[in-house]
Amino acid sequence: MRNINSLVINKKTFKSVAFRCFSGVPGEPNGPHIKTSIPGPRSKALLAELNEIQQTGSVQLFADYSNSIGNYLIDADGNILLDSFTQISTLPVGYNHPELLNVFKQENTLKALINRPALGVFPGDYWPSLLKDVLLSISPGLSQVTTMMCGSCSNENAYKNLFIRYQKIARGGDITFTEDEESSCMINMPPGSPKLSLLSFHGAFHGRTFGALTTTHSKAIHKLDIPAFDWPIAHFPKYKYPLEDNARDNKAEDEKCLAEVEELFEQYKKKGIPVAGIVVEPIQSEGGDNEASSEFFQGLQNIAKKNGAGLLLDEVQTGCGATGKMWCHEHFNLSSPPDIVTFSKKMQIGGYFHTAEMRPDQPYRVFNTWMGDPGKIFLLKAVIKVINQNNLLNNVQITGAKLKSGLHKLEQEYSNLINSVRGRGTFLAFNAPSQKLRDDIMNSLKKKGIQSGGCGKQAIRLRPALIFQEKHADIYLDCLRQVLQEMK
Ligand SMILES: Cc1ncc(COP(=O)(O)O)c(C=O)c1O
Repeated sequence: MRNINSLVINKKTFKSVAFRCFSGVPGEPNGPHIKTSIPGPRSKALLAELNEIQQTGSVQLFADYSNSIGNYLIDADGNILLDSFTQISTLPVGYNHPELLNVFKQENTLKALINRPALGVFPGDYWPSLLKDVLLSISPGLSQVTTMMCGSCSNENAYKNLFIRYQKIARGGDITFTEDEESSCMINMPPGSPKLSLLSFHGAFHGRTFGALTTTHSKAIHKLDIPAFDWPIAHFPKYKYPLEDNARDNKAEDEKCLAEVEELFEQYKKKGIPVAGIVVEPIQSEGGDNEASSEFFQGLQNIAKKNGAGLLLDEVQTGCGATGKMWCHEHFNLSSPPDIVTFSKKMQIGGYFHTAEMRPDQPYRVFNTWMGDPGKIFLLKAVIKVINQNNLLNNVQITGAKLKSGLHKLEQEYSNLINSVRGRGTFLAFNAPSQKLRDDIMNSLKKKGIQSGGCGKQAIRLRPALIFQEKHADIYLDCLRQVLQEMK
């Protein structure tokens, strides 16, 4: 077999080799290679140009997406970076995967792309089977699916399903509305616009659109100046690490947080703003990669059921395989699937799976012009094919185990610089003792050719593509070791 380590970037080779079993990404470079400072001169010139017309404070570098390949992001100055962040956790199979490059070479997929339908009104004749063959083939036990545009708008619309279902039950299942409801909703007053709430968690991130933002509590800059609803916010467990040495304290932490959730249900009922649903990430991602136990999520589901509220698991970041299962909540042994599971990012398309109970009885209650994009589902179809053909969930588990044990070794050796290694699969993170040290580590990693991502105040998160292999883990760990050694 050909040694892919010996290959240098060669697009021709990459395109011509089909992935039969996952032996790696043909055409990938041997490792990172840094030629200039980052951002380099070309990125800086482009930044100046863009800055004339946009706020660019968040731009790190400009990329060369024609030549980026597999796990390697190549920037506009020709620097080759091993990508452990993958466009904020959105690339399932890396850059320029041949299966994905092929998707729009077929006429039917290209025509679905350019004749973009208003899916809620004029779906293509391929639409029901596409949804069933692609999206429902990976559903976590839920029979219904609604497609949307992005993570925020998936949550935003799914929240409406939670309220609509809650009110239907409050009306005893009646699906008609009173005249009073119809007129009062037009001036944002009850009973048509009822006082209801959703419970979310400190540290959560569910998006930046209006309703989603009320449930986002990760950074002030996302929320400042924007009005928010009076909805309950509970504490998400904060664990002590290593988990195995702190089992008793962490169990007590779970119990304390669950008791607070119960209390808030009571409090908001008394206030006249009952809780229609719990909204939670399986691992709080933007907020700092805070994880919680299966028991915590089982407890949440019990509380939701007891109170007639829905449970929404936001798998926008955790979904599509990075934890070693297609859906992170599948690690939790829940007694039944959550009522709603939202997705986006690696799934290419935004949307949510849900129970039949969560489906509105009338049209246009959850609706927008495009309601997604069939082109993205054709891409997802190719992604799922690559995942299955190459057993990538298994690859994630193997690579994740290697990364996690390597990080544990490093946190023992450099305990003054990193701690609290955590996560599942390759969806991993560790903390630095301060935000400044975290940022210093990330900057030094970049100089060695590792594109990394931070989250929360002190965490560095790993979000590699599902094709990240043990050899990439070795490169990541070696570079991190060098950085820590230099900072010691
Ligand atoms: C858990 C979670 N939910 C929702 C969102 C919002 O997704 P988008 O940025 O696509 O609107 C994100 C984005 O990072 C996320 O991590």
